Amino acid sequence: QKLDLELAAIEKGGYDHFMLKEIFEQPQTIFDSLRGRLDAKNGTLTMGGMREYGEALQNAKRIVIVACGTSWHAGLVAEYMIEELCRIPVEVEYASEFRYRNPVIGEGDVIIAVSQSGETADTLVAIESAKEKGAIILGVCNVVGSSIARLSHAGAYTHAGPEIGVASTKAFTAQLAVLCLIGLKLAEDKGTITQQRFQHLLDELDQIPDKVATALKLDDQVKKIADKYKDARDFLYLGRGYNFPVALEGALKLKEISYIHAEGYPAAEMKHGPIALVDENLPVVIVATKDSYYEKVVSNIQEIKARKGKVIAVVTEGDTTIPPMADDVIFVPAADELVAPIISVIPLQLLAYHIGVLKGFDVDKPRNLAKSVTVE
Ligand code: G6P
Repeated sequence: QKLDLELAAIEKGGYDHFMLKEIFEQPQTIFDSLRGRLDAKNGTLTMGGMREYGEALQNAKRIVIVACGTSWHAGLVAEYMIEELCRIPVEVEYASEFRYRNPVIGEGDVIIAVSQSGETADTLVAIESAKEKGAIILGVCNVVGSSIARLSHAGAYTHAGPEIGVASTKAFTAQLAVLCLIGLKLAEDKGTITQQRFQHLLDELDQIPDKVATALKLDDQVKKIADKYKDARDFLYLGRGYNFPVALEGALKLKEISYIHAEGYPAAEMKHGPIALVDENLPVVIVATKDSYYEKVVSNIQEIKARKGKVIAVVTEGDTTIPPMADDVIFVPAADELVAPIISVIPLQLLAYHIGVLKGFDVDKPRNLAKSVTVE
């Protein structure tokens, strides 16, 4: 038994939990997901697994992304990315809904299946039937040779390495990186992006691993914030634009790991419901990095403060507007809004982790959850 314990400690690489180890691996795993594909210095992008279907992808009239859980959140970010970069309409569907509602799918439609395990039953069945109807399936999976990867016509692996923690962390950021590469490749092929913007985004992606490493230095600070709010009964997470799915993901992580009720919402939609919950007992995590929605998010923060909510704001380094308004501020490195989610999700992963640990829960194996859901 002692040997087992020692082995477990070695596997965790000195970290207390796999979840924390995997959170801290992200500078490397994101680098791995970009490696061999992104060459920012020479301004090139190579997506070997998409080449054969390049033309079909370019001609797609629409793209449907199907996924579950955290992978579905990555799909939501990809919707914003691909629509902006490629001007192709994108829909994002829960695989479990998509598979049962006789969706309209035809010849030449492109389905992107996003799945860490590549074995999620709902996602697998959803793409099986879409494939029968003539759709082209693009798989974005982490596990090489998994069922979804094998069923796909084309795709790109995320190369994040084995993820043991049940709540997905490093697989999510790798998915975001790879989905961004896919969007950029498609935009380049279709000619919907200027050379200047293309190069800028390649450079931005290239800098992501370093910026994520910087964000991880916030660990101690986030732990203190976790301690301050760990006894809250509910949390609200808000974000807009590219950071809206980050708010959803932050709320999901907290639910999974700490069993605290949390809701993610688009910040502007708050006034249509969740604002009724805001009082001095409600911590509100707001992802408010400098992007095209920034000014709007600042007014959302004012609305929460006017109702005495506690604001925990994730902001861009150098921001001087939000800090005086917020109860707690987390500064993350600046990045183009398209890739910013890869950075802004880091403190939210850490927050969920620390609250879960402080409450004494098994963060690697949260109750009632499975790493891979291979049954309906
Ligand atoms: C389970 C896991 C989640 C994961 C989801 C989708 O619920 O606990 O972490 O996001 O399945 O899994 P997939 O392997 O398809 O990404």
